[in-house]
Amino acid sequence: MSNNIVVAIDGYSSCGKSTLAKALAKKLHFIYVDSGAMYRAVTLYFLRNQVNLKDEQQVALALQDVHLNFHSRDYETHITLNDEEVSDEIRLMPVSENVSAVSAIKLVRTEMVKQQQRMGQSENIVMDGRDIGTMVFPEAQLKIFMTADPKVRAERRHKELLPKNPEITLEEVFENLAHRDYADTTRVESPLIRAEDAIILDNTNLTPEQQLQFALDKLAPFLNNG
Ligand code: DC
Repeated sequence: MSNNIVVAIDGYSSCGKSTLAKALAKKLHFIYVDSGAMYRAVTLYFLRNQVNLKDEQQVALALQDVHLNFHSRDYETHITLNDEEVSDEIRLMPVSENVSAVSAIKLVRTEMVKQQQRMGQSENIVMDGRDIGTMVFPEAQLKIFMTADPKVRAERRHKELLPKNPEITLEEVFENLAHRDYADTTRVESPLIRAEDAIILDNTNLTPEQQLQFALDKLAPFLNNG
């Protein structure tokens, strides 16, 4: 059995999961994987190729043509879809509006989970997402479930999106988040739920530094033994 360390960070959209995951990976020289980027890249492919989400055969065939790769030289998410850099395009509204529907498809999830598990087989890794502690790495040494006030989340996200989407309003962002929360928690396949052994981190009033320290403290016993 391999003895690499796995940190699973799950939670609602725009809760600061990736900020914490990146900071932790950077500090510890672990690999960082943004699992949401994978669902987003699949969504982009499906949109471009007008894949009918209700047609299982079409979905299965399309998935065979989707080749994703991360190249994370600086702990940011750089993802390629069939060798094309799509890191920016997957953050735009067309993908954000359709990603919940795509990530609810069982075939899509099975394929993504398989790829994610492969990445965590032998390397120390921090992965963020919705089902990392429950489905992808149920044996992870540390599981964190992040939450924050919905209004604060929408404000943070809005600020993040403005440079690339100057037209976007706070209301639009709030609604997109509410819609995704609902879809993510009520879907049949791997809904977003807290793993029983996940530690809750509400970061409404915490700085990124405080969140990093929280995670490092929880991880300390594993690092000392490792
Ligand atoms: O983390 P994010 O907002 O970029 O994720 C985009 C979507 O992907 C989100 O609405 C839910 C889905 N997702 C998922 O179902 N499972 C994961 N492990 C990660 C993301």
